[in-house]
Amino acid sequence: MPSSRIPGFYKMSVHERIEKISEFAELTEEEKKMLLEKGLPLEIADRMIENVIGTFELPFGIATNFLIDGKDYLIPMAIEEASVVAAASNAAKMAREGGGFTTDYSGNLMIGQIQVVGLKDPYSAKFEVLRNREEIIKLANEQDPILVNLGGGCKDIEARIIESIKGKMLVVHLIVDVKDAMGANAVNTMAEAVAPLIEDITGGRVYLRIISNLAVYRLARARAVFKKDAIGGEDVVEGIMNAYAFAEADPFRCATHNKGIMNGISAVVIATGNDFRAVEAGAHSYAALRGYKPLTTYEVNKDGDLVGTIELPIAVGTIGGATKVNPLAQLSLKILGINTAEELARVMAAVGLAQNFAALRALATEGIQRGHMELHARNIAIMAGASKDEVDQVVEEMLKAGKIRMDVAKEIIERLRS
Ligand code: MEV
Repeated sequence: MPSSRIPGFYKMSVHERIEKISEFAELTEEEKKMLLEKGLPLEIADRMIENVIGTFELPFGIATNFLIDGKDYLIPMAIEEASVVAAASNAAKMAREGGGFTTDYSGNLMIGQIQVVGLKDPYSAKFEVLRNREEIIKLANEQDPILVNLGGGCKDIEARIIESIKGKMLVVHLIVDVKDAMGANAVNTMAEAVAPLIEDITGGRVYLRIISNLAVYRLARARAVFKKDAIGGEDVVEGIMNAYAFAEADPFRCATHNKGIMNGISAVVIATGNDFRAVEAGAHSYAALRGYKPLTTYEVNKDGDLVGTIELPIAVGTIGGATKVNPLAQLSLKILGINTAEELARVMAAVGLAQNFAALRALATEGIQRGHMELHARNIAIMAGASKDEVDQVVEEMLKAGKIRMDVAKEIIERLRS
């Protein structure tokens, strides 16, 4: 199996990088071309949404170094923000020294909600729904025989009474195994189909019939040991533990902590053509279940190394929707070497943990601005005309001088050349 450790990847030209990825993922000439030209053809875009006038692009990068459950991955990320790809790659490199990431997944189960109102006796209605569980499940499954044949479909029913500003309501949950789809279509179809039956059973009136993005039965988890010597020593471990404690105690900090996690996850969600709003909604609502809390945890093991974990709902698919119709999303899955929703969610959890670790390490040490300034300086150096061999030197000198300006870059280049 090829390694995802590609030293100096960031220094290569776009063409050289494409060649490297091509070796790793065995891309065809056609696929390589797609990366250089417009990935999403206008005819396809025009069929995806309404009133299309063009396509809208984002930078598409690759995070290196990921070792997840013993397998090497190159991670495609679509994102506008500088430093995210570099930070993920760097964190993954450090995690490798502790054996990489280990992951877990709770299954492809989504929840479809059916809201029942106007009940005189809501607890009796709840009882009747549960008593008629089999009939409701059967009707739900008649909507999607293909899914059922694949071993998926509606597996269970839950019924909850909630207190609302309009009084008590019954909320019925369909628990659906959606296999490798994100699942919204399958679940929403089932929820709409069983609504009349639920009205018959309860004597109430059904209003909403829709998936819940708080996908508590579709949790992805990852864990990594960051060896203290690989991450900068005891002081860095202590700094990250303090950063974690801060997020744990303060929702203002926690929002940014979790945002950093989603920098990584959403970039992969977008690159694979999945619904990033659904994953974001799931992540933050899960974080808020017991008061708004970090999606990651950190602890120090007996050797003094830092151990990070992450747990969040990740509802993504490898079939259906944009994952299938957007050729770039297909290419991302090929680069990842992934066919199943489960493996994709596991990888995303590892990326989220890596991204969070990288942010906390930077924040607890030199701050994040240095990384940003380095990229800025690199851009300025290139714009000032620095050649491939001169760029590193120009960047270093500008950073040292604390002056990242076009005139300064030109001066350095002139001096180097004379
Ligand atoms: C910036 O996009 C993300 C960070 O703010 C995350 C964090 O503060 O943990 C650096």
